[in-house]
Amino acid sequence: MRTNDAQMLVLSALVNGPLHGYAVSTAIERMTGTRLGRGSLSSALARLHGKGLIEYLDAEGRRRPMRLTPAGREMLQCEIESLAHTAGRMFETVVPDRAAYQDRLAATDLARSYKQAALDALAVQSGHVVLDLGCGPGADLETLARGAGPTGVVIGIDSDPQMVRRAQARAARLARAGVLGADVHALPLPSSSADRVLTDRLLQHVADLPRALAEVRRVLRPGGRLVMAEPDWDSLAVDHPDLEVSRAYTRHITDRIVRNAVVGRQLPRLALQAGFAVTSVAPATSVFRDVHAADQVLGLQRNTERAVAADYLTDRQAGSWLDHLAQGPFFAAVTLYIVTAEKPSQI
Ligand SMILES: C[S@@+](CC[C@H](N)C(=O)[O-])C[C@H]1O[C@@H](n2cnc3c(N)ncnc32)[C@H](O)[C@@H]1O
Repeated sequence: MRTNDAQMLVLSALVNGPLHGYAVSTAIERMTGTRLGRGSLSSALARLHGKGLIEYLDAEGRRRPMRLTPAGREMLQCEIESLAHTAGRMFETVVPDRAAYQDRLAATDLARSYKQAALDALAVQSGHVVLDLGCGPGADLETLARGAGPTGVVIGIDSDPQMVRRAQARAARLARAGVLGADVHALPLPSSSADRVLTDRLLQHVADLPRALAEVRRVLRPGGRLVMAEPDWDSLAVDHPDLEVSRAYTRHITDRIVRNAVVGRQLPRLALQAGFAVTSVAPATSVFRDVHAADQVLGLQRNTERAVAADYLTDRQAGSWLDHLAQGPFFAAVTLYIVTAEKPSQI
């Protein structure tokens, strides 16, 4: 047997001892910020009494205080444990290790699918020198090395020492692959030395997009190809009955969490301005219908807490937002763009 919301609120209001009806109503208002209608309160009281979950105390006068019965206390305990279990399963409460997070993400079906599209666009051939800029823990090094074959070379580059260590351990198992700790704004590589360059969700983080793209152009050989897979976080659509809450959540991500949050849509313009020819633009939309899977990518609870701290959501909005997401049905989608660009051959 499960209680409905109003009955649950009454049970919670009585947890610390007996109360009169009006005091139950006040306690609920204090807990939730809203007043339970008189009809809902009376009907909840009648049902709880009928189920033997609350009882009235003998008292002088018309208004008798009520309290939880042992069965009512047990019911409340069960509901709380069930909610705690659901919340714990739904949302991650700790920030995951950065490299492990990227590895876990790369292994999802959604990531595999857009990564395959990006690798197809890159069209690595045997003998190519391939750069994976912002390679993270090196999830793509093996596939790139397979494409470049025994005469090609794959170089992963990342500015985060933890990522570099993880990627170097991976590259050590491959014949002709290496990983350097370096910044994409100043690559430690000769001009015109690479046939192919991949950026997979790197450019959303860089401090100076035109400078980073100019550096990529410098190291690519004329006729060489750059494939960029970058999200547009403004396209993040999470279903919630209150559209403003959903918009506020997305606005917080684009304003505060990701440095170049809408780089996906800007890539064709930025690439043209950097002197590339843009040969194709393909969208890859990830659709999530499972809140747990979405949370692993989007960090729903963590980012909701940050949105509250930054005044994008109130505590109440955040509570109703997370409750709704946990209860489902859940829907979220975000689009990433795969943009292929070429450095024109010199005339
Ligand atoms: C979202 S992760 C993507 C990792 C990897 N490309 C993948 O698909 O799994 C972005 C990576 O870019 C790296 N990064 C961010 N800014 C950088 C910069 N200026 N130069 C080099 N790497 C950078 C981060 O350290 C991080 O590992």
